[in-house]
Amino acid sequence: INAPLIDPFARPISYLRVSVTDRCDFRCTYCMAEHMQFLPKAELLTLEELDRLCSAFVGLGVRKLRITGGEPLVRRNIMGFFRAMSRHLNQPAGQELEELTLTTNGSQLARFADELADCGVKRINVSLDTLDPDRFAAITRWGRLPQVLEGIEAAKKAGLRVKINTVALKGFNEDELYRLVDWCGEQGHDLTFIEVMPMGDIGGEDRLDQYWPLSDLQKRLAERFTLMPLAERTGGPARYLRLMETGQKIGLITPLTHNFCESCNRVRVTCTGELFMCLGQEDRADLRAPLRASEDDAQLVDAIREAISRKPKGHDFDYSRGVHGKMTRHMSHTGG
Ligand code: GTP
Ligand code: 5AD
Ligand code: SF4
Repeated sequence: INAPLIDPFARPISYLRVSVTDRCDFRCTYCMAEHMQFLPKAELLTLEELDRLCSAFVGLGVRKLRITGGEPLVRRNIMGFFRAMSRHLNQPAGQELEELTLTTNGSQLARFADELADCGVKRINVSLDTLDPDRFAAITRWGRLPQVLEGIEAAKKAGLRVKINTVALKGFNEDELYRLVDWCGEQGHDLTFIEVMPMGDIGGEDRLDQYWPLSDLQKRLAERFTLMPLAERTGGPARYLRLMETGQKIGLITPLTHNFCESCNRVRVTCTGELFMCLGQEDRADLRAPLRASEDDAQLVDAIREAISRKPKGHDFDYSRGVHGKMTRHMSHTGG
């Protein structure tokens, strides 16, 4: 019954990303609409339900748990949830969580960094697309850069390793490439670039126009640095390069130019308990009903297994198909 989850393409599912809220204190233009209709609280899984759900996945072989949102740190009592999940760390091999982590916009880190470290979080990913305060305010629609930088500083002080996630946006942060690399080098942060995915309403400001392929970004990096591809992986989708001159590690997440679906090891749960088998597909399974149907996890586990048995081979994102290669769902719905 506790056999590990394996999908139809023989990929073991060992990585669960759980979105604990659809809310966020920012509105990054590629992630959310300006006027979002957030879910009524009653729709959300309670923290107790999220605990049951994540624990069931750990029982089924999930070894890496990443908490996402929206912005995970705006959910009330989220530290109680981290504390609860930390009980799965340091358990006997075969039944333990190897990594408990989160992806955050950094706005609340100054408050929570110490407690996260205390819950066994070792490493966090912070989204940051620019080091220019005005640009930051524009892309997040009102975020304050200094607040995020303070949060990142607090994380570092708390002993958390920080990885900066930067969405590569043509005409927005192209000219900041070296500055971002230098700053991360000085601060001792890893840095990963992400190709912008065609999701959400791409009406007005156009995602297609903003798409900056990382193959181009890599060429730009190669003009200034000697790049050494690294074999190491974190269990996430990034490939890594070493900048030989500085020793820095740069990650590239390239859903468009270099599809990584064949080694996919992850699924996502939304804050209402929908299980998405792929970020780039609409198919999903409702886990809230089986969670609420019974105190016993049998139905839940059945629903999870059934869903994994229809995990698709990969996403359908494709800029060359214009609006047909996109998805209307916002990234914030599934947490990236
Ligand atoms: P590490 O543990 O540091 O490797 O992190 P990660 O890359 O697994 O997690 P993170 O939240 O930093 O993910 C960065 C972004 O990569 C996500 O927000 C998504 O935009 C993208 N991403 C992650 N997994 C997938 C995936 O399966 N498919 C696609 N298309 N994009 C993904
Ligand atoms: N394409 C690529 N990455 C995105 N993110 C949000 N929306 C998109 C998109 N359309 C990223 C954020 C953050 C992570 C959770 O998802 O920048 O790093
Ligand atoms: Fe919020 Fe992150 Fe989406 Fe920006 S990318 S709006 S910070 S959830």
